Amino acid sequence: MQDGGKILLGLLVFLALAFFPFYYNVGKAKARPEPSLKTPEIQKLKVKECVEPKAFMRANHMQMLDEWRDQALRRGQRVYVSSRGVRFDISLQNTCMRCHSNKKKFCDECHNYLAVRPYCWDCHVAPKEKEL
Ligand code: HEC
Ligand code: HEC
Ligand code: HEC
Repeated sequence: MQDGGKILLGLLVFLALAFFPFYYNVGKAKARPEPSLKTPEIQKLKVKECVEPKAFMRANHMQMLDEWRDQALRRGQRVYVSSRGVRFDISLQNTCMRCHSNKKKFCDECHNYLAVRPYCWDCHVAPKEKEL
């Protein structure tokens, strides 16, 4: 009976070690993405705000970018007036990526986690990474 206990303990230790890499990675994969706001342009802002409120941006930036593209290319409209009445140039590169100049630690941080691969950068120039 005592030997049986030792064998069982040995087996448990073996299993724990054998599966260590597995649950170690599970923990990692669950870590939520943390998009960084540490860029020179965002640091300069007096009020740390995006084009629209954060929750809206988080949920709707894809649709917003689609609309921006249609507005700029189909209707020649190059200015967006936000819900707070602030004017922004309609431009992926010169507006979004000017503030979010840390694409790798911002956009990619979320997208990689979710395995989303926007194809925009096939044509649009990604910003030269600038962070603080
Ligand atoms: C004037 C600088 C500025 C511009 C321009 C800007 N952002 Fe932001 N963005 C911010 C700031 C600051 C925050 C954080 C807002 C907060 O915490 O309330 C933010 C937040 C976000 C978030 C939410 C992040 C999160 O953690 O949930 C997304 C997504 C986003 N921006 C995408 C964009 C896109 C896409 C564009 C262009 C359409 C854009 N931003 C343009 C400054 C900017
Ligand atoms: C807070 C997390 C987060 C941040 C930060 C973020 N995104 Fe996203 N993005 C998402 C999610 C989630 C989706 C997928 C939404 C879906 O499939 O419905 C997405 C989808 C997109 C899409 C559509 C891609 C497709 O294939 O449908 C574009 C374009 C995009 N993001 C651009 C950007 C840009 C540009 C930035 C940086 C300025 C950015 N996103 C930052 C979470 C984020
Ligand atoms: C096949 C090449 C190509 C791809 C892929 C592409 N674009 Fe564009 N996009 C262009 C061109 C060309 C323009 C026109 C530039 C101009 O006239 O200002 C443009 C203009 C835009 C504009 C308005 C003007 C500006 O300077 O930003 C937005 C917004 C935009 N694209 C968003 C996107 C987003 C978001 C994606 C990814 C989901 C994307 N584009 C993918 C080629 C592309």
